[in-house]
Amino acid sequence: MKKLIFPILCLVFAHNAGAAVIYAGQARAAAVCSQCHGIKNPSADAPFPPLAGRDEDYLKSALKQYRDKTRKSDIMNALAGSLTDDDIANVAAYYARQKP
Ligand code: HEC
Repeated sequence: MKKLIFPILCLVFAHNAGAAVIYAGQARAAAVCSQCHGIKNPSADAPFPPLAGRDEDYLKSALKQYRDKTRKSDIMNALAGSLTDDDIANVAAYYARQKP
């Protein structure tokens, strides 16, 4: 049941222009990031670093480095290239508040 509720909530929040930062981050994270950075079992079958509960400033600076390409990763450079400063702040705020 939880698996169903999460995407539905994300859809609702994604269409609510007034939604708080965390919900905006959650919507994006669910749509894009969680395909690789799964929240529930971050490292079970993954070369993907877990993001839940990480330091917010660390996540922000990592994403900005990927966007500037000062930190190299074919996957993350491509993904972060389209993020705005607001997007980065939103997803960092969201992931930093998740329990790892
Ligand atoms: C196609 C798979 C994929 C998707 C989708 C993806 N990532 Fe990543 N991410 C990776 C990989 C692989 C790495 C490790 C890259 C490296 O070695 O630097 C990574 C690394 C990161 C890191 C650095 C973590 C650390 O420990 O330093 C952050 C932050 C991050 N991703 C955030 C995001 C966010 C936010 C999104 C959604 C906008 C996202 N990723 C979507 C594959 C993905």
